[in-house]
Amino acid sequence: MGEQKIAEDNVLAIRDLAVEFKTDIGMTYAVRDVSFSVPRGKVTAVVGESGSGKSVTANCIMRLIQPPGKIVSGSIDFSPTRTDGYDIVSLSNKDPRLFDLRGDLMSMVFQEPMTALSPVYTVGNQVAEAILCHRDVSEAEAWQEAVDMLTRVGIDDVSRRIHQYPFEFSGGMRQRVVIAMALVCNPELLICDEPTTALDVTIQAEILTLIRDLQQELKNSVLFITHDLGVVAQLADQVVVMYQGRVLEIGTVRQVLKDPLHPYTRGLLAAIPGLAQKGERLETISSVVGDADLETPYPLTQMADGRQVSLSPDLLREAGHE
Ligand SMILES: Nc1ncnc2c1ncn2[C@@H]1O[C@H](COP(=O)(O)OP(=O)(O)OP(=O)(O)O)[C@@H](O)[C@H]1O
Ligand SMILES: [Mg+2]
Repeated sequence: MGEQKIAEDNVLAIRDLAVEFKTDIGMTYAVRDVSFSVPRGKVTAVVGESGSGKSVTANCIMRLIQPPGKIVSGSIDFSPTRTDGYDIVSLSNKDPRLFDLRGDLMSMVFQEPMTALSPVYTVGNQVAEAILCHRDVSEAEAWQEAVDMLTRVGIDDVSRRIHQYPFEFSGGMRQRVVIAMALVCNPELLICDEPTTALDVTIQAEILTLIRDLQQELKNSVLFITHDLGVVAQLADQVVVMYQGRVLEIGTVRQVLKDPLHPYTRGLLAAIPGLAQKGERLETISSVVGDADLETPYPLTQMADGRQVSLSPDLLREAGHE
């Protein structure tokens, strides 16, 4: 097949990433042979069920993998616009670039807002500190920017709220503060790891809308981790489907949601009633996924339409690839 369509401008290119965890029973792979790129200025969603390696992959990008975990192979080429690019995997733990990477060039929003917030500082203090940490501005300027950013993420009555502590905010409002903190330094890549899972349903929709609107306004690159394909349909440009630590399928949202090639992806879709294919009403992933197809993941093959998929030779033929 033809070369991969990388006329595109990628902020991140992950190649053959593998992470092992040392456990009582020996070493286990958490992710393996993970390769995908994150196009600049777009939203890339990583989907997959619990334990499929989504967070481990995200943590590798931020270099947050701690013992007993270890990146055992692969590279993550980072190409920011405001500084020279480098391979994140090969940075030593003492490399000063790691400091700029976390919070300045990249930032991360986690599921639980209190992981990112300190209970003992005011909200304004924490957002201003995020600015002062990475940029050469006066305290007054940092506070002004904090006010602007908090207003932008939809905090009402900011001049009063800025002096309050996180416990005085609701869960949804806390996540808005975390998003403000993540965006104040204008990161080249924003990673969101299930940022709405801990919130109730109506608030989830508000936060997703906020992330989408801010992305469209700021045009930043976003890696959005979720197990929810409904969210993917609303938010993403590109989708990466993971299963058991590997990538099964990569394509545009349209390709993957309209015509999923991998049986597992079809199963994921079928499990969402609104997105079931052609009248199919399959209740569970296992009802469409034959175990045999999944136990031996195949290398990603580039299809004629540009997407990549991990299929057995038989299934590849079925999918129209010789
Ligand atoms: N601290 C750890 N110790 C041992 N193994 C781990 C650890 N963290 C992750 N793993 C392994 O890595 C695999 C992938 O975990 P990961 O957290 O990336 O999954 P996930 O896709 O983010 O799942 P979830 O949707 O539940 O957040 C797990 O199945 C587990 O085997
Ligand atoms: Mg996770």
